[in-house]
Amino acid sequence: MCGIVGYIGKQNAIPISLDGLKRLEYRGYDSAGMALFDSQKNKIICVKVAGKVDSLEERFRNSNIFSNCAIAHTRWATHGIPSIKNAHPHNDCKKNIYLVHNGIIENYKFLKEKLKEEGHKFYSDTDTEILAHLIEKFFSGNLEEAVVQALKLVKGTYGLAVISKNDPGKIVAARNSSPLLIGLGRDEFIIASDPSAVVSYTKKVVYLEDGEVAVITPEDFSITNLRQRKIIRPHVNLKWDFEEATKAGFPHFMLKEIFEIPETIQNSTRGRLIFDEGLAKLGGLELVLDELRGISRMVICACGTAYLASLAGEYMIEEYAGLPTEVEYASEFRYRKPILNQNTAFLAVSQSGETADTLAALREAKRKGILSLGVVNTVGSSVARETDAGVYNHAGPEIGVASTKAFVSQLTVFALFALLLGRQRQLSSVMGQRIAKEISALPEKVKEILKLNSQIRNLAKKYRDYNHFLYLGRKYNYPIALEGALKLKEISYIHAEGYGAGEMKHGPIALIDKNFPTFAIALSDSVYEKMFSNIMEIKAREGRVIVLATNGNNEIKKMVDDVIYVPKTLEMLSPILAVVPLQLFAYHIGVLRGCDIDKPRNLAKSVTVE
Ligand code: M6R
Repeated sequence: MCGIVGYIGKQNAIPISLDGLKRLEYRGYDSAGMALFDSQKNKIICVKVAGKVDSLEERFRNSNIFSNCAIAHTRWATHGIPSIKNAHPHNDCKKNIYLVHNGIIENYKFLKEKLKEEGHKFYSDTDTEILAHLIEKFFSGNLEEAVVQALKLVKGTYGLAVISKNDPGKIVAARNSSPLLIGLGRDEFIIASDPSAVVSYTKKVVYLEDGEVAVITPEDFSITNLRQRKIIRPHVNLKWDFEEATKAGFPHFMLKEIFEIPETIQNSTRGRLIFDEGLAKLGGLELVLDELRGISRMVICACGTAYLASLAGEYMIEEYAGLPTEVEYASEFRYRKPILNQNTAFLAVSQSGETADTLAALREAKRKGILSLGVVNTVGSSVARETDAGVYNHAGPEIGVASTKAFVSQLTVFALFALLLGRQRQLSSVMGQRIAKEISALPEKVKEILKLNSQIRNLAKKYRDYNHFLYLGRKYNYPIALEGALKLKEISYIHAEGYGAGEMKHGPIALIDKNFPTFAIALSDSVYEKMFSNIMEIKAREGRVIVLATNGNNEIKKMVDDVIYVPKTLEMLSPILAVVPLQLFAYHIGVLRGCDIDKPRNLAKSVTVE
């Protein structure tokens, strides 16, 4: 996702900023840029590229520009395609003010219209650019005062760094829900959105907090809040080296990404729920809303974990929108004869947007001339480009090969999609409001589950030496049983089978004995009684059972070997909570068995061959 670096001090800011950007590359991005004071010519130069930091570096290769102040950025597209014009830094009308921004300005459309009426001219499609124009509007010689005035009108999230030709020798930085820190050197400062960009220069940092504005000069820095009260904050010492910093102190990306799930759900839903009306608003589908109202069937194609998220999505869409939906492996769809008519919509689901089979299935559907949609995490990827319309997950880059936060974001987007399709059809506004409210409560509930990390690690110690596992679930949590088994296979190389619990008696029960434990998802929902009976059948055959149960279910504790409790939510949303302990369990077993967690053997993050 987006990254910010800025430098002010005695050294040349250009190589330092480029180095900082390179250290943020692991976060994923699609374009890069830098605005700098040319100390000799006393002007601001801005250079942007649609591509890698290497290309930006190339643009400075033979230049002899010296700058003691620069702001730089790697952009991960949200509003507007990856391109030079949408890359940061963005500027005002007169090219006096330049800024870089992480986050999303939610009321940018409204502000943009007003600013246009006042005569401001816009160059990009981004939400960010309105900030430069707002600051221009309020600027009367003092940059920080203009920034404070501008931010008072803004709704949304930001980590921000701004420079102005007419108030030189300073960087103004601000933060609201998007991290920003100041690295302290001797007569020099580096600001960054992530400690990994500064650790090789300094380990002394001051973190900005929400609602704070910092003014950084080569000699000093000061922090105030939006009410312009001075804040004194001592620095902290970073204990990480670069490798650790990119993992934010977590031992593996997989664990870091599981712990990012609350934020991921917020990012996937930000600005997309209209609570009063019980509606979901998905910008990428706005142009096809009428077509969506007219479809009578949906066919979803995906692979691996994305396929399993789609199975849960099928249940959501059928239950709440009443729209017949089928999910199929992309690798099957592309070779058989699918029956598609003009009232069918095709939906490709893919984290990378580059999976060969999913892409081929999409192209096959397009050949048939039907509406093609995508649920994709990677902005500008092939699936995103080739579909007629779609929804981005906004999960940020996922580095661990095993999909964790991306899976949750897929489930979250499916919940939004079911709400949108449902409200176009028979779903009442009251039920829509309830779903919207429950979706917004999920991040806090996931945080509760993450507190169980050490309990789950202890469970992993207990079960680490089993060589086989059965995962069982029903209805919405049948796909989660499949996903739990897939995670355990991928990460720990343990043989694991996922089954719909009703199928157990039709075969897998033959495997059950004391050496073949079962992980059963038995939440207090419409299929709890059935799950309970299946669990008893396993216990009767000496099988060990771990149960995932809903808080307050004391009955189950007495009947099984181990229980993990999760908070209650709507049944349709329960997969979003249920999968988190299963991911943690697979992670800890993998660690205990000495496996290569982030790069499991034989697997690739993006499967671009059949
Ligand atoms: O990028 P995609 O979502 O299209 O990838 C699909 C699968 O390759 C992927 O989900 C795979 O199953 C993961 N390794 C699961 O953790």
